[in-house]
Amino acid sequence: MKTIQIPKNTLVILCGPAGCGKSTFARKYFLETQIVSSDRCRALISDDENDLSVSGMAFKIFHLLIDMRLSQGRLTVADSTALDRSARIRLKKLADKNNCHTLLALFNVPLELCLKQNISRERNVEPAVIKKHMQKLGRAARAITEEEYDQHYVFDQGQADQVAIKVT
Ligand SMILES: Nc1ncnc2c1ncn2[C@@H]1O[C@H](COP(=O)(O)OP(=O)(O)OP(=O)(O)O)[C@@H](O)[C@H]1O
Ligand SMILES: [Mg+2]
Repeated sequence: MKTIQIPKNTLVILCGPAGCGKSTFARKYFLETQIVSSDRCRALISDDENDLSVSGMAFKIFHLLIDMRLSQGRLTVADSTALDRSARIRLKKLADKNNCHTLLALFNVPLELCLKQNISRERNVEPAVIKKHMQKLGRAARAITEEEYDQHYVFDQGQADQVAIKVT
């Protein structure tokens, strides 16, 4: 089993399509309080994780919470799709500003599995949206090496379950 060592003052940036398992991964390896989720931020405003009409406000809280936690040197997991370069860079800048480390975890999960996992849960994302996410995933996979994270990992199907995370 691969062991990933991360310093306490790290921003873990999850990146992947809807349904790929980002939130499941976050819950498996991190404390609830360490996870800042864009979907949860939407729900905190409008009681509905799917309410895209409040995305602008939700991302303000998302970034604010991440910034505040990092200012305290707290391990933080940014749980959003982060499929756009601008979204990843925005998060990386928050880490840099607070002298924190970065780890990017990209979930390279096939479309069929994302669609299957998406329908197996309570909250369903439109399949067309997930298909668009897959196109962005390919671009993200090519871009992350140049984006200069302290560590980056690409998890193929099943691999995210096969790691140990050690906070140093
Ligand atoms: N490694 C796994 N093994 C088995 N089931 C999984 C795994 N990862 C995720 N799932 C299941 O797939 C569904 C979607 O996972 P999850 O909600 O974590 O996706 P997500 O990437 O956070 O999606 P979104 O971007 O829409 O929030 C869940 O019902 C979850 O139980
Ligand atoms: Mg999620």
